[in-house]
Amino acid sequence: MRSWGSFVVVVVVTVLCLILNEANVCNGGSTSSFVRKVEKTIDMPLDSDVFRVPSGYNAPQQVHITQGDLVGKAVIVSWVTQDEPGSNTVLYWKANDKQKSSAEGKVLTYKFYNYTSGYIHHCTIKDLVFNTKYYYALGVGNTMRQFWFRTLLKLDQMFLILLVSSVNYMNLNLCEFNYNSYCISYEALNGKHGDLGQSYDSNLTLTHYENNPTKGQTVLFVGDLSYADNYPFHDNVRWDTWGRFVERSTAYQPWIWTAGNHEIDFVPEIPFTRRYHVPYKASGSTAPLWYSIKRASAYIIVLSSYSAYGKYTPQYKWLEQEFPKVNRTVTPWLIVLMHSPWYNSYNYHFMEGETMRVMYEPWFVKYKVDVVYAGHVHAYERSERVSNIAYNVVNGICTPISDQSAPVYITIGDGGNLEGLATNMTEPQPKYSAYREASFGHAMFDIKNRTHAYYSWHRNQDGYAVTADSLWFFNRYWNPVDDSTTAVS
Ligand SMILES: *[C@@H]1O[C@H](CO)[C@@H](O)[C@H](O)[C@H]1NC(C)=O
Ligand SMILES: *[C@@H]1O[C@H](CO)[C@@H](O)[C@H](O)[C@H]1NC(C)=O
Ligand SMILES: *[C@@H]1O[C@H](CO)[C@@H](O)[C@H](O)[C@H]1NC(C)=O
Ligand SMILES: *[C@@H]1O[C@H](CO)[C@@H](O)[C@H](O)[C@H]1NC(C)=O
Ligand SMILES: *[C@@H]1O[C@H](CO)[C@@H](O)[C@H](O)[C@H]1NC(C)=O
Repeated sequence: MRSWGSFVVVVVVTVLCLILNEANVCNGGSTSSFVRKVEKTIDMPLDSDVFRVPSGYNAPQQVHITQGDLVGKAVIVSWVTQDEPGSNTVLYWKANDKQKSSAEGKVLTYKFYNYTSGYIHHCTIKDLVFNTKYYYALGVGNTMRQFWFRTLLKLDQMFLILLVSSVNYMNLNLCEFNYNSYCISYEALNGKHGDLGQSYDSNLTLTHYENNPTKGQTVLFVGDLSYADNYPFHDNVRWDTWGRFVERSTAYQPWIWTAGNHEIDFVPEIPFTRRYHVPYKASGSTAPLWYSIKRASAYIIVLSSYSAYGKYTPQYKWLEQEFPKVNRTVTPWLIVLMHSPWYNSYNYHFMEGETMRVMYEPWFVKYKVDVVYAGHVHAYERSERVSNIAYNVVNGICTPISDQSAPVYITIGDGGNLEGLATNMTEPQPKYSAYREASFGHAMFDIKNRTHAYYSWHRNQDGYAVTADSLWFFNRYWNPVDDSTTAVS
């Protein structure tokens, strides 16, 4: 068998500080006694270095990329110019080839309460060659800025590399990974477990991920980006600062976006969908909040916890047609992203995902989803392979059971919420819960080949080489043997 590149996913979470204790074992799996300490959350001030506007008149800022088609031969490049529309053109070229190509994008602006956006550009560059490094440049003259990205291997080659990161890296914002939350212990990051009394910001979480020697190739972001809606009038300036903050990652590798409750704003004109374009039409979706992509050896389905998902709704009809399209020969790994978790044993957002679970879980089992990543709960949890699909309103069969066709559900939501809610768990630990810990970090899903993937979760309080939870995943289609004992404690 040829070897594959590894596909790594990164999940990052924010952290607050933690207190180290001993783990205790409950009925289900284990509950780590590592608990983040709740620290006062302070926003990084608007003049922080990470929010700095690039120098020069109308210089492109908030640069981010995502996959631009179904298979990974296109990339959507997005950026903002503040002073005037400026150029919509993206120049791009292969790393070892001077021949430049160009693509034309579109520009838009929007108003939200008393905020008027800058000029938001979206440009799809197409017909890229697989497994190639590209440079790209935006802007004009002195303020032109250059970045790069790498395309992955072809889908039907066995050497695909997928990197999936799932992540909650995301939650980069306020209180999630974000700029408001801090709470990573600097001492701990340096490998010492000492005085955890000082809090730092989520900037450290991002740095933590960047320093992880296993390089993620794609970030799977499970929702809640800027948290602008926590500010008066949903102060959209916080979308701009967030965009500048994460640019050092988002300009260089695709982030796969999932909408969280903080993206919805509960208005028709959603800032999120104007700023973050996704290739939803390529998968036949009618809305940017649910869609799918194939990325190297993974088929990634993104669902919307906050859009209608009942029978006959657009999301339901789309998903019903989507699952049968997955060909596990081409994309052996089937991964689903959503914001609100289905299997959650924290007393925080408990049961919020239940109605969606009732609707869709039978499909997840039938089509043998490998893993589901969710956020929302500001803590970490990994489930056993369980399902709960036998119940109907008269039979009373309503307890989750072990099921080797079911996915593992991972909650990797991040924190920063001052209430410290995520430390309150249901007791005893339910049987479906394999591991839970009230802290944050990022995770890597490193796909080795069609049968094996190595998953590791790195809590922020440790050096990046330390894994707090890790296990081998066996592919549900190609290698459906029980992998519940592969966790390394
Ligand atoms: C919008 O209104 C808020 C509250 O009155 C104010 O603080 C803010 O400066 C205003 N923003 C703009 C762009 O006018
Ligand atoms: C954020 O992290 C980067 C890289 O580690 C560092 O250069 C920068 O000074 C940090 N900014 C803040 C506000 O912490
Ligand atoms: C799945 O893909 C393989 C490889 O391209 C192809 O041979 C096979 O026919 C496909 N299966 C279906 C059901 O389309
Ligand atoms: C934990 O959550 C439960 C259920 O919501 C609640 O009854 C209990 O008071 C909470 N405990 C703490 C310490 O907040
Ligand atoms: C798949 O990867 C695992 C882990 O690296 C390895 O043990 C196994 O032999 C590989 N399988 C094949 C068919 O290469």
